[in-house]
Amino acid sequence: MIPVIDFAVPTRYAALPPPTRDRFAPPRVAPSAHGERVRTEDGRELVLRPIEAADVATMQRCFTRLSPEDIRRRFLHAMSELPTPMAQRLCRIDPACETAYVLMDKTERPAEMRGVGRIYVDEAGDRAEFSVLVEQDWSHRGLGGLLMQRLVDDCHRRGLYELWGYVLLENRPMLRLCDEIGFTRHIMLDEPGTALLTLKL
Ligand SMILES: CC(C)(COP(=O)(O)OP(=O)(O)OC[C@H]1O[C@@H](n2cnc3c(N)ncnc32)[C@H](O)[C@@H]1OP(=O)(O)O)[C@@H](O)C(=O)NCCC(=O)NCCS
Repeated sequence: MIPVIDFAVPTRYAALPPPTRDRFAPPRVAPSAHGERVRTEDGRELVLRPIEAADVATMQRCFTRLSPEDIRRRFLHAMSELPTPMAQRLCRIDPACETAYVLMDKTERPAEMRGVGRIYVDEAGDRAEFSVLVEQDWSHRGLGGLLMQRLVDDCHRRGLYELWGYVLLENRPMLRLCDEIGFTRHIMLDEPGTALLTLKL
């Protein structure tokens, strides 16, 4: 019997694009006296360094540039300002249970903060919660991925077994970023619209 060939069906598969993380050159990182120099693919320069207690005013200026959506996605609720006591608390970390990195734009005077990534180690001391933020004009350049990678490295150094965080289900960029790093997504029945993301270290 002569086989029937359906010419409406293409005979060759189209090549699928590689995972997003492989599509772009990640930011280049080089050591410097006060942290690490970071250069994005489009030539922007930043310095990645641990957060300092003196970063309060810089962090508050960064907050004023965030959209309400970015604020809700980072803090999981609306906030109209970053009160000074809260900014002080976020900048003066306890290194025993916290790590926070900032991306500083030193082409501005004064220098501006373009991104922050942090972890808090839980009371039991074996897991940590993450949060990360990159200013919108600086996003989609691999900086969120770089901050997350540094946090994962720090968790390994601390010998933790899990990194976790809450992410809104509408927050597609963060969910994709976490998928690429290898996080597992858990739907929370008591918190509709929010996912718990965990990464075994
Ligand atoms: C979520 C967030 C941190 C991502 O930061 P980011 O710097 O844009 O992250 P990255 O650039 O590493 O990755 C984001 C996307 O850019 C892409 N990208 C990376 N480098 C790129 C480049 N050079 N050119 C173009 N795109 C690039 C990534 O592949 C990724 O694509 P995808 O979304 O299609 O998967 C940022 O959007 C943010 O701060 N949002 C508000 C706060 C928030 O949601 N925090 C998370 C909860 S704590």
